[in-house]
This record gives sequence, structure tokens and C-alpha cells, in this order.
Amino acid sequence: MNLLMSFCVVLLDLMTVHSHMLKQGRIVGGYTAAPNSIKYIVSLQSTRGQHFCGGSLVHRYWVVTAAHCNIGAEHMMIVAGDYIVNTFEGTEQYAKPHRLVTHPLYNSSTNNADIMLIKLRAPMVLNKYVSLAPLPRQGTGVVEGQVCRVSGWGYSSLGGGQARFTLRTVTLPIVSTARCNSSESFNGNITVNMICAGYRTGGKDACKGDSGGPLVCGGRVYGLVSWGNGCGDAKFPGVYTAVSKFRRWIDQTIYGSHLRCSKY
Ligand SMILES: *[C@@H]1O[C@H](CO)[C@@H](O)[C@H](O)[C@H]1NC(C)=O
Ligand SMILES: *[C@@H]1O[C@H](CO)[C@@H](O)[C@H](O)[C@H]1NC(C)=O
Ligand SMILES: *[C@@H]1O[C@H](CO)[C@@H](O)[C@H](O)[C@H]1NC(C)=O
Repeated sequence: MNLLMSFCVVLLDLMTVHSHMLKQGRIVGGYTAAPNSIKYIVSLQSTRGQHFCGGSLVHRYWVVTAAHCNIGAEHMMIVAGDYIVNTFEGTEQYAKPHRLVTHPLYNSSTNNADIMLIKLRAPMVLNKYVSLAPLPRQGTGVVEGQVCRVSGWGYSSLGGGQARFTLRTVTLPIVSTARCNSSESFNGNITVNMICAGYRTGGKDACKGDSGGPLVCGGRVYGLVSWGNGCGDAKFPGVYTAVSKFRRWIDQTIYGSHLRCSKY
């Protein structure tokens, strides 16, 4: 079977959605972002308005997030232009998902390929509060020590729906895969599709409620908040999906899948 064909077959399988509880948490050791300063970040919310994951708008019709944020298209609402979630500020735009495309290699036990694209039913309007996220080119890397920024609205508890939460952000240096994958840290559980970021002293991190949100290095979304071991633990940096490994897949899904699939 050739690559294009298997790609199209897998796309069909992906219409199946799984539902599971997501652990919640929030940016650790960071600070409040300036209002609408990160215009491509979106909040994934339940249809009852509860924030549960972050994402990035990469096309007027598409959001990139983590595959483990999949609670089923029918349960989700995407909010762009948000700053304080659960407070109407007049800058928000809402869209329901049309379909979810989780990566064919996503494995929920290893967290490998933890990436998902969400096609929206209606396009977001680009304006002063909403923009598209720049993505890295396929295969480009980040270097150890490079300082990146992660942002999110993570809640501190599942019952926190009444609280006001403002977008928070924190800067973190990239940790080498060698150190992150060593027996001192994640002990062999880091794949080539992951990057790690955090201080040797810990204390600053993303946390589970920030899942799917952007880790931005040099102005591009190089990482998606994926997993970790606690939050802000010195021994365990945060682990992010390496977006540059999936740039081709993202482009094929957004621009190429319909055209290519129609050949078969
Ligand atoms: C996920 O990874 C584990 C460990 O490598 C493997 O045993 C399992 O078969 C994988 N699951 C899927 C669905 O690929
Ligand atoms: C690595 O993964 C294995 C199997 O999933 C798990 O039992 C172990 O706790 C993990 N170790 C670390 C340090 O993450
Ligand atoms: C992490 O370590 C495991 C076990 O040694 C290895 O199989 C895997 O390839 C390593 N990951 C990377 C990205 O080198």
C-alpha cells in the first residue's frame, strides 16, 4: 500500500472518537499574559463552556491541538480571541468542530504522535484579536537551552467552572532529548516525536489543563503541551509534541487530503 492510500484509509478510521477524562492543572510559575497578545491561541471548551485544553489556530478553518484532548467532536466548542475564559469580553469567536483528525500514529499509552487537527464548521475571522499561528518547517529542530514560551488557561480543578481564568504564560529552556530520555528522567519514554522543556531547578512548567496549547520558539509553534510527571518537578521537564515532525502531515490534512483521496 502506498503512503497516500494508507493516509486516506487512516483518515476514515479517525472519524471514531474516544472520550476520556482529562486531568486538569495550570501554568506553573508563570505570569498573566498581556490581553490578546497571543492571538492564535484557542480554548477548547465543553459544550457547557468549561475550558479543558488549549490549541492554536493554523488556518481559518483548522486548529492544531494534542490528540489526548479528544473528548469527541459533539462535546466540543472552539473559542478564539479569548483572554479571560468564562467571561464574555466581546472579542471571542465560537466554532463547533466539523471533524477531528487525530494522527494515525497516536498512541495513548506512550503519548507518541500526540497531535490532532480540528476542522471547524465555520471559519474564524482574522482580526485584532485572532490570527494564525506560524508553524516550523518539516524536520527543523530546536536546540538545547533555546528559550521558548508556553501559554494556557489550565484550570486547577474540574469543578472550577465558575472561576475567572486569565491566560498565563511562562518561558522555559529546551532540554536535550538525551537528558530528558535518560535514566535520571523519563528513562527511555521519549520518542523522536517529542521535545522537552523546563528548568533544571523545576518550578516553571505547563500542566495538564494547558494540554494541546502552544510552546513557541522563535515565533513558531514548535511544541504542543503533551505530558509530564507532575508539574514543575526538577527531575521531569514538560514533554511536548514536536510539531516540526508533523508539518507535512498538517499541510496534507489541511490542503491535500481531499484532492489526494479522491483519486482512490
Ligand atoms: C502503543 O504502544 C505500546 C508500547 O509500545 C504498544 O504495545 C501498543 O501496541 C501500541 N498501541 C497502538 C494502538 O499502537
Ligand atoms: C516509562 O514508561 C513505562 C511504561 O509506560 C512506565 O511504567 C514508567 O513509569 C515510565 N517511566 C518514566 C520515568 O516516565
Ligand atoms: C529513548 O530511549 C529509548 C530506550 O533507550 C530508545 O528506544 C529511544 O529511541 C530513545 N528516544 C530517542 C528520541 O532517542
